[in-house]
Amino acid sequence: MLLNESIDALDLKRGGTYIDATLGGSGHSRLLLSRLNGGRLYAFDQDQVAIDNAKKTFEDPRLTLIHDNFANLDQHDIGRVDGILYDLGVSSPQFDEAARGFSYKLDAKLDMRMDQTSSSLTAYDVVNTYTFNDLMRIFSRYGEEPFAKQIARKIEQAREIQPIETTLQLADLIKSAMPQKALKKKGHPAKRVFQALRIEVNDELGSLETSLHKAIEMLKPGGRIAVISFQSLEDRIVKSIFRENSEVDVPRGIPVIPDEMKPKLKIIARKPILASDEELLHNNRAHSAKLRVAERL
Ligand SMILES: C[S@@+](CC[C@H](N)C(=O)[O-])C[C@H]1O[C@@H](n2cnc3c(N)ncnc32)[C@H](O)[C@@H]1O
Repeated sequence: MLLNESIDALDLKRGGTYIDATLGGSGHSRLLLSRLNGGRLYAFDQDQVAIDNAKKTFEDPRLTLIHDNFANLDQHDIGRVDGILYDLGVSSPQFDEAARGFSYKLDAKLDMRMDQTSSSLTAYDVVNTYTFNDLMRIFSRYGEEPFAKQIARKIEQAREIQPIETTLQLADLIKSAMPQKALKKKGHPAKRVFQALRIEVNDELGSLETSLHKAIEMLKPGGRIAVISFQSLEDRIVKSIFRENSEVDVPRGIPVIPDEMKPKLKIIARKPILASDEELLHNNRAHSAKLRVAERL
């Protein structure tokens, strides 16, 4: 997704040190290394499966694989870097593997953990133990689901009889809570609730926020940060963190701006970069992809 555009945006420097915060199927890491003269790449993924696949198929002495959440970017003795890339969300292998429980079309136990080794909260726990109010809040906030209340109510009623165990059971419940008119709209009716559960289970927005603040501190002057996001909540976080680090708010009467008040970033493109027409033809998911880029001052 936005493969060439995002690597171009990093403006790679000969011998530079880079971080791919979201290794996934390694597409971006491979292209980055193929274009990097010398240098190093640290690639993070919280999914052990992604790390193991890369270990098996991707050899490059410049590459270090790190199994960790990108919220812990600063805990690996990497030092300062010339660029950091994020390609957020779920990878195709995660989505296509039924057992991971990310898909509303493949039957599996409700799971949705990206890191199956350490994080303990699963979609099953959320669906079966969160209060009606909390369910409604996450469906509405993280999924922007207009029928959040009705769906939360259905879940509450259903789990009183027996726990909701599987993805398809949940998808059917969601459908049964929605009016006929809404079911006929474009897009799968369970999409927004599944997105909300995934965000909650993996604390996706919290990790992104924590990580972006650390990433900005880790960049060398002239270093670039490039973030590809897929939904408005993520994009809003990226946009607002970039903006708050690129503006100065100097009180009147201060003749010289103290260092700690100077902006840290220069925003490279005011408008996000979108997928090309050609990519849109091949990849439906690319329609919602947005790339934002900033440079450390
Ligand atoms: C969209 S995929 C990346 C695809 C990759 N750029 C490629 O070319 O194949 C996102 C990946 O980021 C990982 N990920 C998402 N959130 C993460 C986080 N907070 N920390 C570490 N990895 C994360 C997911 O496990 C997934 O493998």
